[in-house]
Amino acid sequence: MYMKHISAAFISLATIRSAYGVPQRRATCPGGHTVANAACCAWFPVLEDILPNLFDNECGDDAHAALRLSFHDAIGFSPSKGGGGADGSIITFSSTELNYPANNGLDDAVVTQSPFIKAHNVTAGDFIQFAAAVSLSLCPGAPKVGFMMGRPVAKAAAPGPDGLVPEPFDNVNVILARMADAGGFTPTDVVALLASHSVAGADNVDPTIPGTPFDSTPALFDTQVFIEVQLRGTKFPGSDPGQGEVMSAVAGEMRLQSDHLIARDTATSCAWQSFAGNQAGMQSAFAKAFNKMAILGHSASSLIDCSDVIPAAPPLPANAGPHLPAGQTQKNIEQACANSPFPTFTAQPGPATTVPAIPQ
Ligand code: HEM
Ligand SMILES: *[C@@H]1O[C@H](CO)[C@@H](O)[C@H](O)[C@H]1NC(C)=O
Repeated sequence: MYMKHISAAFISLATIRSAYGVPQRRATCPGGHTVANAACCAWFPVLEDILPNLFDNECGDDAHAALRLSFHDAIGFSPSKGGGGADGSIITFSSTELNYPANNGLDDAVVTQSPFIKAHNVTAGDFIQFAAAVSLSLCPGAPKVGFMMGRPVAKAAAPGPDGLVPEPFDNVNVILARMADAGGFTPTDVVALLASHSVAGADNVDPTIPGTPFDSTPALFDTQVFIEVQLRGTKFPGSDPGQGEVMSAVAGEMRLQSDHLIARDTATSCAWQSFAGNQAGMQSAFAKAFNKMAILGHSASSLIDCSDVIPAAPPLPANAGPHLPAGQTQKNIEQACANSPFPTFTAQPGPATTVPAIPQ
């Protein structure tokens, strides 16, 4: 009896120490992978299932949706208003949270992900963040992000219908205040997180043109979104602009008002500019902020670090360096940061770029 208590205490001590990154004996999983913590072995079958069967092994619509879902689940957290953060409540309480206007369009991701959660007997909170980390590994240029396991089943829906999830028509102060409240995100963290809009598009801002991308390279995790959103907007991609949409510079591309204003606000414009063409700086800032976002509502010490299950993304292709879309010139950059000029980029040759929709 006494011995049993002692060994139970040792086990929990070992778990806590491993969460703080103290090296411990590595475990070899049934498939041959080695991991720092044996509990992480459970995620390899999930990985091998979702790469082909959820994501079609590509940085496409389902990968993008998984990344957006991880944000909308996690950001449902406020010290004063409640919510469990990255707890899976957006799936566990989907009948409530999917009715919140800011979650418009996430029903697809919830419906496609739910059977995998059931089949692998993991919590929705863990699965959502795992799927997002894995989705990034399919997007060339993405940094390797972490994954922590151990989120319990959510007890309640995040508070709503309005307030916790930023909307594209919110002003910059509102968005920055919300992000600071949710997790102490700095304005630079918020800009870094918006690198996600490099692998993204909108289905519902203008529902007549689903899959309209936010930059010209929605299958690459590059810095084009930071360049292209800084260009003077001249046209809408559809005939009837949606709420929270402003004119974009490139045909077939959608610009969110929130991205447009964050690129130009004194609180954020220099951070925005700092990521344009700065792949390595963008990667490390994004990874740091994403890892923080993925555990909102939890303490790291209550979770197990399974980052070694997440594959690395391929690098950007050699011909995918930062550039202006064809037809643009540096003069179309709307300088906003007061401290230094926007970096100079060369336009791609040929007729003005038209960006095709993301296949749905
Ligand atoms: C902070 C303010 C943010 C606002 C106002 C915002 C707003 C939006 C909007 C309106 C859409 C289009 C949804 C649709 O119509 O289908 C969208 C898409 C997306 N957002 Fe954000 N977002 C923000 C931050 C983030 C963050 C932090 C992440 C992830 C780390 C993220 C990831 C994505 C992704 C991946 C998509 C594309 C989804 C798809 O193509 O299916 N966003 N966002
Ligand atoms: C699913 O996981 C829970 C919690 O880890 C466990 O109690 C339960 O027995 C598992 N169910 C199946 C069918 O494996």
